[in-house]
Amino acid sequence: MFYSLTPAPPDPILGLTEAFKKDPNPNKINLGVGVYKDAQGRTPVLASVKRAEERLLAAEQTKNYLPIEGDPAFGDATQALLFGKDHGVVRDRRAVTVQAPGGTGALRVAADFIASTLEAKTVWLSDPTWPNHPNVFQAAKLKTATYPYFDKPTNGVDFDGMMAALHQIPVGDVVVLHGCCHNPTGVDLTPAQWEVVAEELARRNLLPLVDFAYQGFADGLQEDARGLHILARHCPDLLIASSYSKNFGLYNERVGALTLVAGSPAAAETALSHIKRVVRANYSNPPAHGAAIVATVLNDGELKRLWEDEVRQMRDRINTMRHLFVETLQEKGVTQDFSFIARQRGMFSFSGLTPEQVKALRERYSIYAVSSGRISVAGMTEENMDYLCSAIAAVLNSPS
Ligand code: LMR
Repeated sequence: MFYSLTPAPPDPILGLTEAFKKDPNPNKINLGVGVYKDAQGRTPVLASVKRAEERLLAAEQTKNYLPIEGDPAFGDATQALLFGKDHGVVRDRRAVTVQAPGGTGALRVAADFIASTLEAKTVWLSDPTWPNHPNVFQAAKLKTATYPYFDKPTNGVDFDGMMAALHQIPVGDVVVLHGCCHNPTGVDLTPAQWEVVAEELARRNLLPLVDFAYQGFADGLQEDARGLHILARHCPDLLIASSYSKNFGLYNERVGALTLVAGSPAAAETALSHIKRVVRANYSNPPAHGAAIVATVLNDGELKRLWEDEVRQMRDRINTMRHLFVETLQEKGVTQDFSFIARQRGMFSFSGLTPEQVKALRERYSIYAVSSGRISVAGMTEENMDYLCSAIAAVLNSPS
């Protein structure tokens, strides 16, 4: 039975964290996984989260099961965060939300729902995309394909290439879009480009699935939802997989949500009945604690203000690191242009480092990045910047 198995390859992102943990070098830096670090290199529990947990501990009465779709207060808070509580899709009850174990869990529920219920043949992913996207959809027995997204010469969006591909996608297929802070490139669509994409999706009856894992990390909680709002204006049907891992720092609590928007409340309720079957067959009903934290914070004015401020601080620190990184590389004599990194948004940038350079950084300096050249800017601190940029300068000068 098991003796004939050969090892599966390590995960390209979480496998790096495993290797990083084993590395004894005291100067090691993890720019692999998208996890926020503060100025001291720690991944803190947010103060708003701690305060909510204190309240929950005092008030908790039961560990009874949640409903299949999760905590209703969490679902309402999620819709209000995505759209604003007075948005038409919320007011008209055209949106339904199920709590899910993380953004990945939400994607997998979406994938199983699409595979079991819809006619879609293929899920279209940006090139490049988060390496786990194909795994999730293929695990649900869906076919995946890619549309052009990143334009290497300009370090921007290949918008003409993207639109040309969208014109060709068969009617009814699913198109995955990153709501903001595109992972791995850090390059987002402008509002004007979202409009063009949304019109095309609506005209061709393509189903948008928005992966929204970084709300609050680009320009602001509301600003980052602009693309989603534009889609909701044009497309009657919409899926959103959102995550609270990053903006609440709740990585290990696995809190995410799948929100479905339909043309009518009845269509939304019918779709929900299918999603509930998917959840029941996968994990029955979701874990309570993380979602209770999120609902407590978002439904309390004072805690919500504290949290919004904490999100702003995380965003500002990352943006400060983007500029410091570009400046420090220049100070170290690097002539290759990295200025685009200061213009990009979210935790990630596509650095342009080659797989060989990434390997040299890991082997010679214990600096871990994804082999595609994706770096997590959130792992940079004022303290590790000098070591990091000296190492990059050395590797660029002598690759082997
Ligand atoms: C990342 O891309 O680093 C994060 O989304 C974490 C993960 O699960 O890969």
